Amino acid sequence: MDQFKGQARLPKFAVPKRYDLTLKPDLTACRFAGSVAVDLNIVAATSFIVLNAAELSITNASVSFTNRDSSKVLKPSSVALFEDDEILVLEFPETVPIGLGVLAIQFEGTLNDRMKGFYRRQVLVGSLCTYEHNGEKKNMAVTQFEPADARRCFPCWDEPACKATFKITLDVPSELIALSNMPIVEEKNDGNFKTVSYQESPIMSTYLVAVVVGLFDYVEDHTSDGVKVRVYCQIGKTNQGKFALHVAVKTLELFKDYFATPYSLPKLDMIAIPDFAAGAMENYGLVTYRETALLYDDQHSAAANKQRVATVVAHELAHQWFGNLVTMEWWTHLWLNEGFATWVSYLATDSLFPEWKIWSQFLDEITAGLKLDGLAESHPIEVEINHAGEIDEIFDAISYRKGASVIRMLQSYLGAEPFQRSLASYIKKYAGSNAKTEDLWAALEEGSGEPVNKIMTTWTKQQGYPVVSVKATDQKLEFNQSRFLSSGAQGEGQWIVPITLSFGSYDVRKNFLLQTKSETLDVKEFLGTSIEDKGVNSWIKLNVDQTGFYRVKYDELLATKLRYAVEKQLLTATDRFGVLDDLYALCVARQESLTSLINLMGAYRDEVDYVVLSNLITISYKIESISADAVPDLLEHLKQFFINLFQPTAERLGWDPKPGESHLDAMLRGEILTALALFGHDLTLDEASRRFQAFLEDRNTPLLPPDIRKAAYVAVMQRASKSNRLGYDSLLKIYRESDLSQEKTRILGSLASSPDPDLILEVLNFLLTSEVRNQDVVFGLPSSREGRDVAWAWLKENWETLLKAYGSGFLITRFVGATVSPFATFEKAKEIEEFFATRGKPSIARTLKQSLERVSINANLVESVKNEKDLADTVKELAYKKY
Ligand code: BES
Ligand code: ZN
Repeated sequence: MDQFKGQARLPKFAVPKRYDLTLKPDLTACRFAGSVAVDLNIVAATSFIVLNAAELSITNASVSFTNRDSSKVLKPSSVALFEDDEILVLEFPETVPIGLGVLAIQFEGTLNDRMKGFYRRQVLVGSLCTYEHNGEKKNMAVTQFEPADARRCFPCWDEPACKATFKITLDVPSELIALSNMPIVEEKNDGNFKTVSYQESPIMSTYLVAVVVGLFDYVEDHTSDGVKVRVYCQIGKTNQGKFALHVAVKTLELFKDYFATPYSLPKLDMIAIPDFAAGAMENYGLVTYRETALLYDDQHSAAANKQRVATVVAHELAHQWFGNLVTMEWWTHLWLNEGFATWVSYLATDSLFPEWKIWSQFLDEITAGLKLDGLAESHPIEVEINHAGEIDEIFDAISYRKGASVIRMLQSYLGAEPFQRSLASYIKKYAGSNAKTEDLWAALEEGSGEPVNKIMTTWTKQQGYPVVSVKATDQKLEFNQSRFLSSGAQGEGQWIVPITLSFGSYDVRKNFLLQTKSETLDVKEFLGTSIEDKGVNSWIKLNVDQTGFYRVKYDELLATKLRYAVEKQLLTATDRFGVLDDLYALCVARQESLTSLINLMGAYRDEVDYVVLSNLITISYKIESISADAVPDLLEHLKQFFINLFQPTAERLGWDPKPGESHLDAMLRGEILTALALFGHDLTLDEASRRFQAFLEDRNTPLLPPDIRKAAYVAVMQRASKSNRLGYDSLLKIYRESDLSQEKTRILGSLASSPDPDLILEVLNFLLTSEVRNQDVVFGLPSSREGRDVAWAWLKENWETLLKAYGSGFLITRFVGATVSPFATFEKAKEIEEFFATRGKPSIARTLKQSLERVSINANLVESVKNEKDLADTVKELAYKKY
């Protein structure tokens, strides 16, 4: 039997066609029993049947088949569950012949508390929101199967390409709601229990099977072609489901048009789950969400929360086509699911809420993709997967954000119309089956006539991306590409880069494919005057509208012109973002100085755009942290510089929402005030404290609307310490009294921003109490320099506890990333490496390497900033400059 161990994929002697699955969860004993009958196509005569199973005990098994007109039932001669490989090997006393067979298995398992497989709700003690109904404590059971945990609920061929139909039956307490992928066909009541059976599903992968059992309410609507859509939530919260319901109905209609294929199931349920490891999960016909990603409260949710709900719903519904109907052939192509759903969620959100200018916020996806992919320890979009344990780690910024970004790059190169037409034909061609990356390229190549495969494999099979350097010489531009690495090291690689250029005006453009290492372009015809001219309209911008996944390094002349164009607001917001973000990345890689970055930032004093300001804020946090290590004497001046930079926006927006103001201004207000609070701006801290007091007295006060609550909380924590803990205790009180997840998350995200290490430690210990759900602990980790030593000591101290709670899922990687990455010395990197040397696990290996690489990038940056001679003068000049 050992021959089946250590394999990445199951042997295919038998192929499942249909599962008849019955589950009976016992919510009090936290156990479940089940039986499954699988219709098999035996494709090779075999005495073994090998399938996936984990943490199950098998109580009975048999295979039946028809042999020369007589039916036969065989009991296995041995049944072995190999937990390391998560496989169940059944050996039969004689060979099972080629043909049809039915494998029947009975099994039992535990409803676990690890948010994967078939799990139960975490019941919290001492919280006002324990799960009670009619005075009785209730529980809830939920499934989360992606990527490879269906095997923890029932024995199955748990690979995305092993698609089958599912006929599901649930045996549950009669007072509970029981949901699955398909509508109910029959419900039989038998006293305290009921047997609920569901329609047979269309062909689908195991990771999309879902079951939810518990007490819920719902709101309901229909799409124009009759799909029944419901949003389920905790009893009494249905009002909070209405926004997501609206988005879902509209999005289903939109995707039906966009993919030229209707939604394939008769119903769509979406449900808020109180304990949820990911943000949401696209189970076919039964999409599960964290509460924060589905529920919207008019009174207490912020604009950012609203946007989150819309984009998450759109993302999960995109999967109903891209992922569920057409499924990746293997996890190597996970990005097809996630990258595509991420990209198309923007398309849907933009169509529903054009005033959100969501495509300009797509820049954050690109930036995050570039950031991770700028590490030597990145991985290609198409990544080899040899073990189920490796899958969790690739749900990362490469699959999602780089994936989405290269799709956007391609769409903008091919044009929206051919792109959509080709997608629709891809969906038609592979509906009900599986596809690989190259199948998508082939469809796009056929629909557009462009060499899509050749271009795109340079982006998906190769890790990293290029920095394109441009030099202006003698009416010519010289382009050079090389791999960009945040460490500043030289990297390998060459890409086919869709280059776009604008010359002094968005009407004068040039596009071409950079296919070689370097290329020179005669640009005389595009220039109004000589290239040396520094006039207003002489700027040249590459990567117009930032649709390309690459960095640009301009020579000094071109950079000066762009800085001027930024200052004079001659560029679009997306291009202003790009100029800043590229220089910032080059600065981290020590190819440009921090002084030049600070100088450029000064050109954004009149900036009004949300995404640009939001990125300026993010960058200023990073500069603050590096400078605190490199040039501590300069810190106060730097903070003053940032305050000076952001104050005009704060004054423009004020604290109170303006009637009819934009969604983006509402989000910006919160971020700007948070930044001023973090930089220690006294007036902001005072005003925050005044409004916070009013809020403590009356949770419905107009003085603290949801959009500025986070800012106020962070401000309160700036002045809180172990000896002055009033603000902290008040925040905990609000935390305890609120039953809105978004409010709790907001508070958790603020607590550790106190500058007092002792108080930070108290916060960290609070996170491990039963008052904080396991799913939410990561939000409470500090991100400040002041917090990093405490957090690291705490992590070491609690490593075993954390491993127990999160060790078998992807959340553990967040702890490692958040605590390790803020450091900036080689000694610390070494210490961290030593700690994990004996505690390493395959599931954190990649994250650990990436985090250590970040530490060394920080360390090098700190050293080089120390040597910048003009930095202090530049900062001091800009910090007090009057405009
Ligand atoms: N398929 C994922 C859920 C998932 C993530 C399963 C990780 C297993 C491991 C789902 O479609 C998803 O991408 N959810 C995102 C939210 C989305 C809007 C980016 C998430 O969970 O963060
Ligand atoms: Zn997804």
